[in-house]
Formats: sequence, C-alpha cells, structure tokens
Amino acid sequence: MSKKTATAAHLSDALPERQEGVPVLQIRDLNVRFPSEDGVVHAVRGVNLTVNASEVVGLVGESGSGKSVTSMSVMGLLDEGARVEGSIKLHGTELLGRDDNWMSDVRGKKVAMIFQDPLSALTPVYTIGDQIVEALQVHSKMSDKDAWARAIELLDLVGIPNPEVRAKAFPHEFSGGMRQRVVIAMAIANDPDLIIADEPTTALDVTIQAQILDLLRVAQRETHAGVVMITHDLGVVAGLADRVAVMYAGRVIERASVDDLFYHSRHPYTIGLLGSLPRPDLDKDKPLTPVEGNPPSLLNLPAGCPFAPRCPMTVDACRQSEPELTDTDLPEHEAACIRYGELIDRSYVDVYPQLGQCKSHFKAVLGTSDREALEDVLHVENLVKTYPLMKGAVFKRRVGTVHAVDGISFRIKKGETLGLVGESGCGKTTTIMSILELAKPEAGNVVVLGHDAAKMNARQRKRTRQDLQVVFQDPMASPSGSRRARPLDWSVNPDAGRRQRSCRSSSWPSLRLGTSSSWAMTPPR
Ligand SMILES: Nc1ncnc2c1ncn2[C@@H]1O[C@H](COP(=O)(O)OP(=O)(O)OP(=O)(O)O)[C@@H](O)[C@H]1O
Ligand code: SF4
Ligand SMILES: [Mg+2]
Repeated sequence: MSKKTATAAHLSDALPERQEGVPVLQIRDLNVRFPSEDGVVHAVRGVNLTVNASEVVGLVGESGSGKSVTSMSVMGLLDEGARVEGSIKLHGTELLGRDDNWMSDVRGKKVAMIFQDPLSALTPVYTIGDQIVEALQVHSKMSDKDAWARAIELLDLVGIPNPEVRAKAFPHEFSGGMRQRVVIAMAIANDPDLIIADEPTTALDVTIQAQILDLLRVAQRETHAGVVMITHDLGVVAGLADRVAVMYAGRVIERASVDDLFYHSRHPYTIGLLGSLPRPDLDKDKPLTPVEGNPPSLLNLPAGCPFAPRCPMTVDACRQSEPELTDTDLPEHEAACIRYGELIDRSYVDVYPQLGQCKSHFKAVLGTSDREALEDVLHVENLVKTYPLMKGAVFKRRVGTVHAVDGISFRIKKGETLGLVGESGCGKTTTIMSILELAKPEAGNVVVLGHDAAKMNARQRKRTRQDLQVVFQDPMASPSGSRRARPLDWSVNPDAGRRQRSCRSSSWPSLRLGTSSSWAMTPPR
C-alpha cells in the first residue's frame, strides 16, 4: 500500500454511505509523488475536485498531466512506493490511510472503475456471465441462481444481444465494444455511488465510441452515481460532462461548467486545446492550430507558470511564481492564469499565431503549393486482398472468400497526410499491411517512393523499408517491456527546416503509416 498521510487510527470501519448535502467525492489538496532513479516525480500537485451525485465531471489534459494518477489515488490502487498526501473523501468519509481490505470493500461496491482496455479488466479463462456473477457475489449475499439472473439482466441493459447465450461466452469471443459493455455491466453491478471511467472509448472505433457513451449515460441514470470521465477527447466531454476540470503538469488549471469552458475559456492552454479541434463552424481551409511544444517534466518543474514555455501570452511575471487556481469574472469558473482577464471575448484565433503562416511555410518547405507538381510517396491502385473462408475441423474446405480489401486506390504526395477511416473490420489495417509487405499484391499496384513493390528485389525492399515508419494502434505492444525507452528529443528535420519531433536513434522516414487514423472505407463483403 502506498504511503499516505491520514492515519488509520482515527478512521471508522463503516463503509461510506450517501449523505444529504455531502458531495459523493471530495478531493482536497491531493499531492502524489513517485520516487524514481532520476529524482522525485511530482505527478499530482495540489488537486481539488468535487463530484456530486448524478453529476459527470470531465477530467481532461494532455498525456502525463496526472489524470490517471488522480483516479488511481481514489481507488487506492497506486504503486507501493507512491507518496500520497491530502484528503480524498467519499460521502465525507476519508479514504486515504485505509488498509487494502477496507478499500477492497469500497472498490466495486461504492466506487467502480472502467479502464481504457476492457481486455485487461476481464479474466480470459472465465465466462462473461461467471465474471459478472463473481462481481455481484463478492459484495452481496446472492444465491448463484439470483446472481446469474441479475448478470443476464445487466448484459441486456448494456445492450448485449441474446444475453442468456452470450453470458456463457469467453472474453475473446466478444468484440472490443462488446467487452467494454461487459466491463460497464460489471461496474454498475453493485449500484456504485461513484464511477471513474479512464479513457473508456479511446480503444474503440467512432461508431462504437458513440454507443459506449450512450451506455455510460444509461449507467449513470440507473445508478445516480457521480461520474469522473477522464479523456483526451474534448468531444466526449462536450457530449457527456456537466463540469470540466482541465489538468496540466499535475494541476487543475481551469475548472468550469462544460458550456463556459467551451465558449468562455479563461486559460490559454484550454483555448489551445479547443483550437486543435476540428470545428464544422469554422473555415475549412484554415489549418488547425496546435499547441506547440511539450508539457514540462514533472521531475524538475521550473519556477513560474508551467505552461509559460508554450503560452503565446507569456510575460515576465508569468515566470516568477506559479499562478493559483482562482475565481474568474464568471461564476463557478476558476482559472490558473494571471492574464485570464485579457481572454474575455477572445477566441483561439486571437490568441494563437495563425494559420496563413502554416500555408506559406508548407510552400517554402515543398517549393510549391501545386499538388500535382509534388512527387508521389505512395500510389496504390486497385489494391485487392482476399482471404479464403474455410469450413471443417479436420478436412478443411473452402466455402467462400472474404474480400478484405476490394479495389482501393489512392495517392499520397510529399508532405501530405491521408486519413483512412472506417468502422472496425472494414479493411484499414489489411490495406496498410498489404502496403508494408512490399510484395506483388494479389491484384493492383503498390508504388512506394517511386518503386513498384511487385518489381522490387530483396535489396531494394530492404532499402525501401528503411524509409517507412509504422505507428501501431496499441502502444503497449510496440516498445519492449524489458528495455528502458530512449528519450525522444527535438531535432531539426533538414527537409522541413523546422523543429519537429524525431527519435534520435532513427532517421527521418519518408513515409509514415499509422494503423489508427479522410478516407471512408466500408466493411468487407
Ligand atoms: N508508478 C509510477 N512511477 C513513476 N511515475 C509515474 C508512475 N505512474 C505515473 N507516473 C508519472 O506521473 C505522471 C502522470 O501520469 P498519469 O498516468 O496520471 O498521466 P495521464 O494524465 O493519465 O496521461 P495519459 O493521458 O497518457 O493516460 C506522468 O509523468 C507519469 O510518468
Ligand atoms: S500565467 Fe502567463 S504563461 Fe501561464 S497561462 Fe497565463 S499568460 Fe500563459
Ligand atoms: Mg491516463
């Protein structure tokens, strides 16, 4: 168990119960530090957060801003070595300083958590039904028959078709979206008072995401729980949350109702996040404005506002001391920015350097803005990939064909990004994999950096592979678990002539393919 400041001696054994007028969750001045080889990581710095019953609070911020560490502190699931200070109260009852047995009773019964990856929340060797039954029986004295009946009811509630039959299936027999539904069923099984959802839709495709968000609304309605919705996606927050807390470098830097945050933001970082979102109401030819740079290291935070190195409004005073989260001109709207008053009636277009510059920069780098004059880095023409559909356990026979990719054509010019979008199973990854093979396709042509894949010899193929880089969907499956990551640094890309993120140990690839990323595809026939 992590080291905590509250002492168990003063705490009653009774589990927290709903109390009139008392918030479901009250986090006060939460600080979490992790000792590491390089020093102490101050992951959460003085976070305050209140969640009421039937309220959804969105917790947003860039990667590493402390969202998950905050939620894991509530669940009592931080690493042994974590040093936790402050106060976390559920229905007014302190959670910090509790032993694991007491917290186990709270987890699942009073507080439920929904993680990003539903597979890691389910045990592969037990059926879906058994796992929900276990979740029910751990916290209440239910007979096997009643628990099974309730498990089926819950599966039905979360939209699993034919729940009596599907309850006997194993997790690997469910799609990602169905597994997340099961996790939600388990989360609401014991009617929790607080649900913490940590990026519950990030691993799912957009249509399934929308269904899962609808389902979370149902779950919240059924339980009247307070919900903490942790997400990178401001669209998710807009659709679901009542209030939003924006985190940066371990602190809450803005807190407001969802409408206020979107329409009257009082922090340049939030304005930057909103400016990076595609907006249908804005000029489609205007490029999005990214917040340049990276969040600071939590090992040695410099003095002053941690956002100062990236903020377009920085003045000397910003570097002197870190601004506190204080009230703004708007009711129940707090921000940690000394210049918030200058943001009244300003949008991201007024705050962030714009846009035309990007276009002229693009032209300067590529030498032209005429698309046709640019060289092709990838040309795919009528690409086809099929798989045989087999039947029979011993004597397999072909009973049909799956048309995974069926006559796809596209062209990517130097400096361009092509989005390939479509529902789960529509052939996006198969298209990318067929290109990466650098072999003669079943039908059609793949021309990479001017070389026809069908005509490459082994040496050309090896050389071309050095110019290809792939970013896979699951980051956990990509880096080796047994080796330390070499830090990414900023280096100058000679082609682009500007600072761009690159890995010191690898050369700048000519073509980058990602397996998650506008190009609509439909599922295979
Ligand atoms: N067990 C740990 N030991 C050391 N540092 C940790 C540990 N867990 C988290 N951290 C650090 O704490 C900081 C906050 O991490 P956290 O996981 O809360 O970020 P996050 O906002 O949830 O990011 P993401 O959006 O990527 O999930 C990061 O700098 C992270 O490296
Ligand atoms: S305090 Fe200064 S640096 Fe920080 S967000 Fe406000 S204007 Fe930017
Ligand atoms: Mg996280």
